[in-house]
Amino acid sequence: MFPYTPSYPGFTVQRGGNMPVVRRKVTLLCMTLNIFFCLLMAISWSLRSDKSSSQKIRIPSTRFWRKLVPSKSFWNREQQYLDIIHNTNVNFVFSVSNPVTVLPDWLNDTGPTETCEPDYRVPIQISDYNSLPQRLRDFLLHMRCRTYPLLINQPYLCREKPFLLLVVKSMVPHFDRRQAIRETWGRAGMVANQTVATVFLLGNTIPLDHHPDLQRMLLHEETLHKDLLQWDYRDSFFNLTVKEVLFLEWFNQNCTQAKFVLKGDDDVFVNTLRIIEFLGNLSDSRARELFIGDVISNAGPHRNHKLKYFIPESFFEGKYPPYAGGGGYLYSGELASQLYSASQQVALFPIDDVYTGMCLKKLGVVPVKHPGFRTFGIEKKHRDNPCVYRSLMLVHSLTPQEMLSVWPWIIHPELDCQ
Ligand SMILES: *[C@@H]1O[C@H](CO)[C@@H](O)[C@H](O)[C@H]1NC(C)=O
Ligand SMILES: *[C@@H]1O[C@H](CO)[C@@H](O)[C@H](O)[C@H]1NC(C)=O
Ligand SMILES: *[C@@H]1O[C@H](CO)[C@@H](O)[C@H](O)[C@H]1NC(C)=O
Ligand SMILES: *[C@@H]1O[C@H](CO)[C@@H](O)[C@H](O)[C@H]1NC(C)=O
Ligand SMILES: *[C@@H]1O[C@H](CO)[C@@H](O)[C@H](O)[C@H]1NC(C)=O
Repeated sequence: MFPYTPSYPGFTVQRGGNMPVVRRKVTLLCMTLNIFFCLLMAISWSLRSDKSSSQKIRIPSTRFWRKLVPSKSFWNREQQYLDIIHNTNVNFVFSVSNPVTVLPDWLNDTGPTETCEPDYRVPIQISDYNSLPQRLRDFLLHMRCRTYPLLINQPYLCREKPFLLLVVKSMVPHFDRRQAIRETWGRAGMVANQTVATVFLLGNTIPLDHHPDLQRMLLHEETLHKDLLQWDYRDSFFNLTVKEVLFLEWFNQNCTQAKFVLKGDDDVFVNTLRIIEFLGNLSDSRARELFIGDVISNAGPHRNHKLKYFIPESFFEGKYPPYAGGGGYLYSGELASQLYSASQQVALFPIDDVYTGMCLKKLGVVPVKHPGFRTFGIEKKHRDNPCVYRSLMLVHSLTPQEMLSVWPWIIHPELDCQ
């Protein structure tokens, strides 16, 4: 290309002396305009830099962080307190060396110091306390208690480093459900070449709930199977979160060797073989942060006081985080340990599934929906079809008798389900 440059029109050199008069005038005008524009630009530039430099050194006359306003709802206020003392509320600036001194006045004396006596400081902070359902009032009085005596322990349950720990939420009177689980999907030992351990979580029966005294029968069951964990607290629907937190604590102390955890109710049916196959297929990184189940997103509290899950505005405001609905979910042992520390920073909430979702949110973990979890059951027309159960991971709900009739469908290899 270069050899041709001289003949290229753009490169033709014109010497000033040879310019015609009209052209010279035009050139002059252009130069003037150029200077004018240069000046304009210089002025606007200096104006701009003036503005930005003044912005840099400006000191706000008011506080630039958002003032922490107490929530109108009790749970949210308890959580605000926990966020402050655990320094996780980014909107609130305080001295790390002595956080207590900067607690806002409205939190002083009302903070959730742990107590396991009925806490009568709570009712006076909830305007409609006296009109709340009894179970909610019971919950509120003990909301700040997370430690109950362990009556039956299994400190060596995880000595064999289980690949899968099956954790079943049960209740003392449900002897037949536990036995059906042991004989079917919850059989401990080697399953599909992996070590499986099973444990049942129990609270206590109390005279107030008119339970007959079953404790000695329970102790007998314990000597037979060595798979019970029992704590001394009232086993009720709104205390299931207590069960969850106590389990996480136990796991952290006695079972961190477990690679995966499946947590389920004692009326779910679990296809243990499929779960072990699924877990064996996972990559290491996916395995570590695993949390799957029948995940519900965009849910919020029920405000109808006739419903079992009723949560009043005076107690909780806001949406629920994504959570795995009742029945059961599958997650990694590593995550179980992290959930324990997260739970220390989340105020107890009466619905245990939602509570676990709140702890996951604290960890920045999003639970993943898996179609194999059927917590709302399966269609009636498919219920007697053995092959349907083969492809599922967890179904809610089955009676002990149904478990015993379905389990052979899972384990008999001769059944052709292609
Ligand atoms: C809380 O308030 C009481 C009086 O109401 C006061 O004596 C105490 O020092 C306050 N505590 C903190 C940590 O500010
Ligand atoms: C189980 O493990 C044994 C020995 O490690 C191996 O030979 C066998 O193929 C395994 N079976 C399955 C179903 O993976
Ligand atoms: C939870 O357990 C405690 C300790 O037994 C009991 O006092 C409280 O009433 C229970 N809460 C509910 C909601 O049943
Ligand atoms: C189980 O936990 C208890 C309480 O922390 C601890 O004392 C005990 O050593 C643990 N046992 C095992 C086998 O890890
Ligand atoms: C596990 O991987 C095998 C082979 O890729 C596949 O056939 C099977 O469906 C997978 N199992 C599960 C439960 O995902």
